[in-house]
Amino acid sequence: MQLAPEILTERLRLRPPTETDAERIFARYGQDPLVCRYMSWTPHRSIDDTLAFLRRIVCENAQGSSAGYLIFSRETDQLFGSVGGAVQCMRMQFGYCLARDAWGQGFATEAARAFVAAVFENPSIWRIQAFCDVEHRASARVLEKSGLTFEGTLRRYMVLPNLGDTPRDVHCYAKVCA
Ligand SMILES: CC(C)(COP(=O)(O)OP(=O)(O)OC[C@H]1O[C@@H](n2cnc3c(N)ncnc32)[C@H](O)[C@@H]1OP(=O)(O)O)[C@@H](O)C(=O)NCCC(=O)NCCS
Repeated sequence: MQLAPEILTERLRLRPPTETDAERIFARYGQDPLVCRYMSWTPHRSIDDTLAFLRRIVCENAQGSSAGYLIFSRETDQLFGSVGGAVQCMRMQFGYCLARDAWGQGFATEAARAFVAAVFENPSIWRIQAFCDVEHRASARVLEKSGLTFEGTLRRYMVLPNLGDTPRDVHCYAKVCA
């Protein structure tokens, strides 16, 4: 998949990460248990964890098998969070997370909308999907507001490592090309 080098919205600038972003990611949200609660990864214990995480994304971005972006304020250049996903044949599965102090201002929706539009610029992608835990109402709202449609609940579908080892029920949202 072709990765846009930059995605601009009214308030945000999205760009792919590099290894030099590790310290900022760790400080802003990588180590925060509240941010990680519903994510598929556990809080980073040190910058080495963040670096390993970043190296994988940088490599997969270069191979075209993922589209990972960091989200910055256009006004202050502060790092707000990340949005990205993996290509699975003709579909993209994505997720997002923001540092705590960036919650509740519509940034996740603004970033997700722009990300979805940028991914659909690739003619090889026919479907964009995301899963969120049934208890994670804020994330479900972000997906709804970003133009994805609720398709159903997948029971006992995913283990979320910060919520124990019992598979959880998740909502599936998607947007498809007509
Ligand atoms: C989930 C998350 C991305 C939301 O980011 P955000 O920038 O605050 O989202 P937005 O402001 O764009 O929209 C949030 C919506 O959820 C609603 N919301 C927030 N908390 C809520 C809650 N506890 N219950 C119900 N709705 C809630 C908001 O009111 C808003 O909806 P509205 O516009 O209809 O009022 C952010 O909290 C986050 O990064 N959390 C940690 C990482 C994470 O969980 N990522 C998703 C994994 S599936």
